Amino acid sequence: MKKASNDLEVRPVIEADRGEWLRMRTLLWPDCPEEHPPEIDTWLARRPMDQEVFVAARGDDRLGGFLECGARAWAEGCRTGPVGYIEGWWVDPDLRRHGVGAALLRAAERWAQARGYSEMASDADVANDVSHAAHGAAGYEEVGRAVLFRKSLGVYTLPWAPIDRTAQPAFERELRRELPKGHALFGKAVRAIARRVDRDDVLFEVGGGPRVATVRLTYREETDPARPVTNIHESFEAFRTTRMREDADEEKR
Ligand SMILES: CC(C)(COP(=O)(O)OP(=O)(O)OC[C@H]1O[C@@H](n2cnc3c(N)ncnc32)[C@H](O)[C@@H]1OP(=O)(O)O)[C@@H](O)C(=O)NCCC(=O)NCCS
Repeated sequence: MKKASNDLEVRPVIEADRGEWLRMRTLLWPDCPEEHPPEIDTWLARRPMDQEVFVAARGDDRLGGFLECGARAWAEGCRTGPVGYIEGWWVDPDLRRHGVGAALLRAAERWAQARGYSEMASDADVANDVSHAAHGAAGYEEVGRAVLFRKSLGVYTLPWAPIDRTAQPAFERELRRELPKGHALFGKAVRAIARRVDRDDVLFEVGGGPRVATVRLTYREETDPARPVTNIHESFEAFRTTRMREDADEEKR
């Protein structure tokens, strides 16, 4: 395998790299730390054909950088498709400016070439000057800048509010901890989607939907299958037009 200019080995990620890949992924994307372990485990178990992860190995079980790449059907400014795409790129601070990042990029480009792609694309935050410089030095030309937007669709009415993505796993863990055998949600896949801001009521999507359930969390392990108290609604819309409306009316009074 190709050595980076400071003798780090650049190679595809292996099972034994799990901890180091997780460490660096969390540094690159610190906003949702709880999402990394399941994503890494799923990736290592499946090794998707249209993605690859390259790492730079320090030679002592530790890694010094990683790059996640994949195929995208289309990318801004490209003339062909599918194209190779740089999804994540990280070098530990103590190794920067030694050619490790460039070596990871070369590995990704070879991977894309071998799949028959004739272009490689990438993106970076508008303010990430270092990334812009590193892309530029490796021959990437800027093809555009983007301003990102969001708008709330006003689906929720107080006292109900959506649960932030980063807070979802904590509610899901708590529900699993509380549920006794025989409870309507015991053993079911759930996803926390909203909560009452004034109480411990949480709305969960059940089994991938369309059913949802409101649960009054108790913050202790229950033994009575009737607790935590749970109401199942056939769909989110059913919840919205009954329970959420009633709670909103109650709040106004
Ligand atoms: C971007 C990053 C991966 C580059 O890794 P690196 O190993 O330092 O890159 P290299 O040493 O291969 O640099 C190659 C060239 O890029 C340019 N470059 C890299 N870092 C630079 C910096 N801080 N300032 C100016 N130019 C820089 C230089 O031309 C450099 O060549 P030189 O050192 O011979 O001048 C690394 O800085 C990093 O992990 N940053 C934080 C995470 C990040 O922003 N990732 C990109 C997300 S899009």
